[in-house]
Amino acid sequence: MNKYVIKGGNILSGDVSVSGSKNAVLKAIIAACLTADTVEIKNIPLISDLFIMLELVKEIGGKVKLSGHTLKIEVQDIKSVKIPLEIGAKIRTSSIFLAPLLSRKKEALIPNPGGCRIGARPIDRHIEGLIRMGATAKYDSLDGYFHLKTRGLHGSNYKFEKNTHTGTDTLIMAAVLADGRTILENAAEEPEVDDLIALLNSMGAKIKRSKPRTIVIEGVERLHGTTYEIMPDRNEAVTFAILSALTGGKIFIKNVEMQNINGFLSIFKKVGGDWEKKNSGVRFYINKKIKPTNIATAPHPGFMTDWQGPWAIFMTQAGGDSTIHETIYENRFGYVNELTKMGANMRMYSPIVKNPETFYNFNYYNGEKDHMQGLKIHGKTPLHNAVMKVSDLRAGATLVIASLIARGESIIYGVDYLERGYESFDRRLKTLGADIAKTEEEEFLE
Ligand code: EPU
Repeated sequence: MNKYVIKGGNILSGDVSVSGSKNAVLKAIIAACLTADTVEIKNIPLISDLFIMLELVKEIGGKVKLSGHTLKIEVQDIKSVKIPLEIGAKIRTSSIFLAPLLSRKKEALIPNPGGCRIGARPIDRHIEGLIRMGATAKYDSLDGYFHLKTRGLHGSNYKFEKNTHTGTDTLIMAAVLADGRTILENAAEEPEVDDLIALLNSMGAKIKRSKPRTIVIEGVERLHGTTYEIMPDRNEAVTFAILSALTGGKIFIKNVEMQNINGFLSIFKKVGGDWEKKNSGVRFYINKKIKPTNIATAPHPGFMTDWQGPWAIFMTQAGGDSTIHETIYENRFGYVNELTKMGANMRMYSPIVKNPETFYNFNYYNGEKDHMQGLKIHGKTPLHNAVMKVSDLRAGATLVIASLIARGESIIYGVDYLERGYESFDRRLKTLGADIAKTEEEEFLE
């Protein structure tokens, strides 16, 4: 594990480019496994999650070639239908291999997927959809594997009970080679899903969005190779936008797709933020004193759950009381204890919700535990240095931003989580003028 040592307080300035989207590329890699031809993917972010996925492609018999930020994948034949537990359990997207394995080999063995521990993160909605398309499924608690089989997937009508981003990815990929038409209702609208649809269509798939939240897929005989460029990462764009606003407003961010971050832009403007677009990128800054506000996270086009950590820091600098209501995951406030060590005045609470079973995006079980889905923040508070530990990817970015605006030298342990989704974060921050050093960590004492 590595740690960052950050001396806060520098004004940051210069140019930074948003990398290719993590949550698009991980699915693109699986899409490439649906054909025997070569798929070339450009604008690859060099993040640790990517390398885990490439390991999995090799495990099922594929070849991968990475040159700079371009990746070629060729899976002429799938040689193994089993995703190894020790690799698969590291990453949520390993479960999406269900689609190419079932489509091409009629069988899939997938370990209970891993990823950041920000909630229970089951895949019941994915499995239910696959059963509707003609698969049988059982979970064996002795080996920790989902065992799925099919005589051949067929088109089907399936309505997701609640929004699921990777569930939608999985069922789209299962449907492209299925026999007949599939209609997915209440399907996710995340831009990364559209990126996947565009890639698959360029491989010969027939997928279109009809009504809002409805996707129609006509199954085809085979897919072919293609060359495709991955969309820029909107989570990274918002991370840099908030960082810029809090560190002097002098960072020009390239490759920001503004239409994909509207949920952030509207609220940023409302609290006193603004931006200016130039050829060199978009510069986010604070126009007036930051106003407090109440937000609730939501599926696209709402305010994304991945943005709420950096937003919490922003609200520590607002004059007054703010709240954040997390509705997507049960456990996405892993940064809160750490920020309080820095002097942030914040505490978690249980918001009153009329119908939590339908309101929350996760599977809410009444009475199982006290759901602390809300965060109250009292600003404005100056932040000071602390020794902290990263709990998950977005919490990692949150602690880095906080340390960059804090007084004194902070130490952040466990930054490997952060490197799951941000390419060379420390080096890019350094070029903007941040005082940041990455070293191997000695044992962290709780
Ligand atoms: N859920 C279920 N059952 C399912 C599917 C989802 O209970 O079958 C729950 C999840 O546990 C979660 C909620 O429903 O509480 C939403 O899950 P969803 O499937 O929409 O999201 P995800 O697959 O867990 C993806 C991204 C997340 C991003 C969300 C929201 C990937 C690999 N991950 O997660 O990204 O926050 O969608 O857009 O695409 C990150 O990048 O740090 C990250 C966590």
